[in-house]
Amino acid sequence: MLHGSGANTPKQMLERVMENWSDNSAPIGVFDSGVGGLSILRAIREELPAESLVYVGDSANAPYGDQTSEYIIKRVLSIGLQLTDFGVKAIVVACNTATVVAAESLRSLVHVPIIAMEPAIKPAVHLSRTGIVGVIATTRTLESASVRRLCDRYSLRAKIELQACPGVVEYIEQGNVREKGLEKLLESYVKPLLKSGADTLVLGCTHYALVRQLIAEIVGPDVIVVDSATAIAREVRRRLGDGLLRAGTETPGSEIFFSSAPREEANRIISKLWGRDVCVEPEFLPARGIRNFMI
Ligand code: DGL
Repeated sequence: MLHGSGANTPKQMLERVMENWSDNSAPIGVFDSGVGGLSILRAIREELPAESLVYVGDSANAPYGDQTSEYIIKRVLSIGLQLTDFGVKAIVVACNTATVVAAESLRSLVHVPIIAMEPAIKPAVHLSRTGIVGVIATTRTLESASVRRLCDRYSLRAKIELQACPGVVEYIEQGNVREKGLEKLLESYVKPLLKSGADTLVLGCTHYALVRQLIAEIVGPDVIVVDSATAIAREVRRRLGDGLLRAGTETPGSEIFFSSAPREEANRIISKLWGRDVCVEPEFLPARGIRNFMI
């Protein structure tokens, strides 16, 4: 937990965490194109209170949804390598876009467990009464082979309506989660899905889970909103395995935040979205040598 006050400067706390970890006390790395993965970080924190968590938001390069595959793969591999240099025991790709484009490349490069996203289409199909499921995500996620496969798998049980939402991530990256402009934009994407009969809405982008309340208000009480955060947190627990990679302590774990965005801005926005004052580190301090996060 990084606060910039008293004798415990962020750097001192960071160094203490790094000095003391053995394999199972090492932190879990969680990253996203920006702040969206905080929705996954929160679910992991609730599921695994004793784990130390390192969050990386690549906000200077968000949104990934508008970038080429080459660019996304380069960013994901760079962040993945730096997280393993940092000494993490597992990596959570808390970004659907990064998952569909680059999770496989990351798996072939690093040798810690990788837990990646999947839009919650399967539970949504089970929950739907009308048999019509809406999915909102980035264009890149919706165009991917993995989403196409998921839709094919459930096509006999439900009609799955896909809707890309360009522009939404940008609002959330600025911490503007209650703005009229965002509400109007979300309405313009979601209302046609409701008109087509969808009674279940999948949030296929981790940023959208940060405005889940606003989306729930737009769709009204008869529509079920589903995201993947809790399922991912449970999957992290399962992959760490009891007594193997799980933190062997009852002491609450800490959170360390990194961002590629300018520091003041990152402090303000992450603190607002995380719900308490955090002090964001601008650079990785890896266990083995120092690398600059901006490379
Ligand atoms: N949080 C990312 C996702 O889940 C946002 C994508 C973006 O940066 O465009 O897809």
